[in-house]
Amino acid sequence: MNVHRALFDAHVERWSAALPAGDLYAPMAYLLALPGKRIRPTLTLMACELFGADPRNALDQALAIELFHNFTLMHDDIMDAASLRRGRPTVHAQWNVNTAILSGDAMLVMAYSVLGSDPYILSVFNQHALEVCAGQQLDMEFEQRAEVGLAEYREMIRLKTAVLLSAALRIGAIKAGATEADQQRIAAFGEGMGLAFQLRDDLLDAFGDPAVTGKEQGGDLRNGKKTWLLIRGLEVERDRGSSALRDQLAHEPSGRDVAVMIMALRELGVEQEAQQEVRRLAGTALEELGRIDPTGDRTAALRALAISLIDRAA
Ligand code: IPE
Ligand code: IPE
Ligand code: MG
Ligand code: MG
Ligand code: MG
Repeated sequence: MNVHRALFDAHVERWSAALPAGDLYAPMAYLLALPGKRIRPTLTLMACELFGADPRNALDQALAIELFHNFTLMHDDIMDAASLRRGRPTVHAQWNVNTAILSGDAMLVMAYSVLGSDPYILSVFNQHALEVCAGQQLDMEFEQRAEVGLAEYREMIRLKTAVLLSAALRIGAIKAGATEADQQRIAAFGEGMGLAFQLRDDLLDAFGDPAVTGKEQGGDLRNGKKTWLLIRGLEVERDRGSSALRDQLAHEPSGRDVAVMIMALRELGVEQEAQQEVRRLAGTALEELGRIDPTGDRTAALRALAISLIDRAA
């Protein structure tokens, strides 16, 4: 296992074990103990090291980012009516919706309590945290809209997902005293990777193996989420004069046949097209990394992590 990930795992396990008993905290420990990838905190530690400091200096900030991420998941699963997360019942399914709301709120507070009081780090964190909320709001609004363009989709995923990867890296860089120019470059890399990451997430939602993703297959399609796949699928369908996707979307979410929608996406050929787009976005992001470290020596671990995300199955 990667050394940064191992460092972080030990830190979060210590933190989790110290949580008080009771149903306010139990959902936090539950979610944190499930097998997440812990990409964001790993990025924070890697960025801290890249700019010359001991990654241990950024452990609390990495924890704050991971707690914030898990808080968003706890609430996201309510918003998306999702029953599975990381292969187990979601918090609202295991307890109930009100417990998931409140435990999520408390988890957000705890993220702030471990983040520390550096005003600059706090302002970066706040800006991005608010953007995540703005992205989630757009994600929900788009469910209700028939027409959403690819540019609107890109901005929505930039906000709901990409900015947090970006913040994770920037905060690690700040902890190491990186210059503003370097912070901007590493943040741009994170944002580009984040776009690729969410597009891959959307692909896995429809075409991934639920035993590996740990999520219900086709949840996005049932909810009418305007993912790249659905937007592009509807476009291709219109050009061809067919209507399988459009017909299913005309039903209420509970009446949609997800298997039919998945098959339609396959037939329309948008799966390959979307994966090409994941590669393109990741490639652009990796160019940013090349600007920080032209020889590639100092960024080998970051580069390897980014490349592993392009074809990830979970
Ligand atoms: C899930 O994030 C939410 C998205 C932004 C797509 P991850 O895929 O990083 O989830 P875990 O933490 O590894 O479970
Ligand atoms: C989640 O996007 C983004 C945030 C939680 C902010 P998704 O709704 O696609 O994430 P999953 O697929 O449930 O993990
Ligand atoms: Mg979701
Ligand atoms: Mg969601
Ligand atoms: Mg998803």
